[in-house]
Amino acid sequence: MKIGIDKIGFYAPHLYLDMNQLALHRGIEPEKFTIGIGQEEMAVAPITQDPVTLAANAALRILNDDDKEKIDLIMFGTESGIDHSKSAGIYVHHLLNLKESARVIELKQACYGATAAIQLAKGHIALNPESKVLILASDIARYGLKTSGEVTQGAGAVAMVISAAPNIMSIEDKSTFLTSDIMDFWRPTYSEEAFVDGKYSNEQYIAFFQETWKKYKAETNLQLNDFAAICYHLPYTKMGLKALRTVLNDGSKGTQDRLLRNYELSKTYNKLVGNIYTGSLYLSLLSLLDQQKDLKPGDRIGLYSYGSGAVAEFFSGILQPEYQDHLQKEENEELLSSRKELSVSEYEEAFLKTLPQNGENFELDIKNDPAVICVAGI
Ligand code: CAA
Repeated sequence: MKIGIDKIGFYAPHLYLDMNQLALHRGIEPEKFTIGIGQEEMAVAPITQDPVTLAANAALRILNDDDKEKIDLIMFGTESGIDHSKSAGIYVHHLLNLKESARVIELKQACYGATAAIQLAKGHIALNPESKVLILASDIARYGLKTSGEVTQGAGAVAMVISAAPNIMSIEDKSTFLTSDIMDFWRPTYSEEAFVDGKYSNEQYIAFFQETWKKYKAETNLQLNDFAAICYHLPYTKMGLKALRTVLNDGSKGTQDRLLRNYELSKTYNKLVGNIYTGSLYLSLLSLLDQQKDLKPGDRIGLYSYGSGAVAEFFSGILQPEYQDHLQKEENEELLSSRKELSVSEYEEAFLKTLPQNGENFELDIKNDPAVICVAGI
């Protein structure tokens, strides 16, 4: 039975910051951010958006009544959730009026959460071929003002429906994965912002990629030449390229050119949104599918998922007949092109504005937020 991605959509907040402006204000050469890191713009979440509303807005863009009737499992991957106990997915379940006879859980393993959800969804659909699974991957990435991670922040969500006989991409059965207890990036319960050992995290991302890729090749007998494209978890858009370059020599000249060309297209939305942690790999996949017209049904796409701490997985999918008819390219481009630019001081103000931490009731003015679903109060 084919199981995989039947629908995919995303949402990013309506505000963004230009990385050239950020660099100038921080006394850094803009090319470091735009070329060295590979980020052009960064989505900024206003106080009226949180990981729940971002996810709900993403799901709203793809679900129809038939999906709502069939979805009986909702998995919410996040590492910036709003409650240590209650799943963020329950709020989305309520906001979207999903059916009561559904299971809802939140999954956390840094940027790997949504990939774990996809693999679990496959098992669920194998046992219940009539049902559908809603996967939400939503995060707000915060490192702090004037930190070296500042340029790699972002905000947004990807929503996916997983089903049997999927319209967009079936997920192949074989995948290789790896876990090791390392401290490259973490956010303990006492901190609003993540801690990161930047250089070490880059090294580990690449080392885990090389290991999972080596195992994948050995266990499947597939080679680089068998892939039309490889999408990567993109904390910033230069990161996946660094990993790809370490294996490119395995492929023919034609394969190298193809993978590099498709890598460029696979970062289209990420370089305008920034890191959305667990949704980043899937935002990259969406960029590729929307922007690369030369892909064909039957093409194999590799996917590399990395969640600090760390768990990594390499897996693959096969594009389905007429998959292009099930994308929302224009709507996705419009979402990004209609955003409002913030000055650096407006961004800093938005960054520092946080909700009360003492559980008091609090109302927010949502009239300037164009999203369908907003945080109106606590
Ligand atoms: N023109 C062009 N390029 C320039 C430049 C200029 N004027 N000045 C510098 N550069 C280049 C550098 O040569 C370097 O390129 P290479 O990496 O190819 O060598 C690049 O810009 C970045 O420069 P630095 O390494 O000096 O940057 P930095 O020390 O300020 O930090 C960072 C970069 C480590 C990524 C930091 O932003 C960070 O810690 N980010 C958060 C952690 C992160 O994203 N890690 C990724 C792996 S972990 C993961 O994937 C999970 C997750 O989502 C967090």
